[in-house]
Amino acid sequence: MLHLGLIGYPIAHSLSPWIHSKLIKDQQMEGTYELFEIDPDKFDTEIVKLKAKDLDGFNVTVPYKERIIEYLDDIDDAAQFLGAVNTVKVIDGQWIGYNTDGVGYVTSIENRYPDTLKETSKVLILGSGGAARGIYYSFLQKGLRRVDLANRTVAKADHIIRELEGEDFSQPLSIEEAEYNIDKYDIVVQTSSVGMSPNDHQSIVSLSRNVRGSLFSDIVYRPKMTVFLTQAQSMGADLHFGYEMLLHQAIYSFKIWTGTNPDTDNIMKDFERKLEGE
Ligand code: ATR
Repeated sequence: MLHLGLIGYPIAHSLSPWIHSKLIKDQQMEGTYELFEIDPDKFDTEIVKLKAKDLDGFNVTVPYKERIIEYLDDIDDAAQFLGAVNTVKVIDGQWIGYNTDGVGYVTSIENRYPDTLKETSKVLILGSGGAARGIYYSFLQKGLRRVDLANRTVAKADHIIRELEGEDFSQPLSIEEAEYNIDKYDIVVQTSSVGMSPNDHQSIVSLSRNVRGSLFSDIVYRPKMTVFLTQAQSMGADLHFGYEMLLHQAIYSFKIWTGTNPDTDNIMKDFERKLEGE
């Protein structure tokens, strides 16, 4: 019997229980995925209680992706480098931390648009928070060397590039510079929370260029069709949605916990149907 869960705050509207219950069922396993909503004031005591539970693994979401690290017994290279953990596997009571956000993102692009990610692809990442960092890291791991970052606070974009030693090939840009040059990129990835419900009337950039043939991607999944994606579509871009990353980072966690290899096409179709019904 597989015993999984999620820690974070707030998590009542999380889609993870649906995804993992479906994965458990598809793999013909027995198991549960429980929500552990932990009040930030009680984190240290609650996490000790969680240690006492017989979990096989759990996900970690906002605001605990960094805070969990001091409670781990081991951490994999990507998570260590990013300083953020979204997946913990429990082996003989030992907690091992991973980060599946970046790799889940890259896999979701490859699944939807095979052969799009090439070493020569020109990529622009909008935003420079934790999500941007994970995605930038995964693009570099994949061998891409033409990835720029644009941010309201340009120093944060510059910081990420230096941390990952990308100064020789990546440029930090202002949002205005990004808007002006946006048609020069093959892939544009929106990683900020701008456009997320309830601020779903906003976009981090204003698009005025024809971007036909480029791929525009938003990691925001509520709403599915953000202002950013709506504008990109009207300018001729192909689209990649936040829910695709959400599903693939979850599948990656599930693979880490169970060593299984779920059929992603099947669950993607069911997930799309579920989201349409929301
Ligand atoms: P996460 O860790 O979840 O990726 P975060 O660290 O809160 O999120 O980062 C949010 C990103 O959204 C940052 O790049 C932030 O820009 P700044 O670094 O300049 O703060 C960006 N962001 C948030 N609100 C914004 C807004 N109204 N306009 C432009 N960028 C915004």
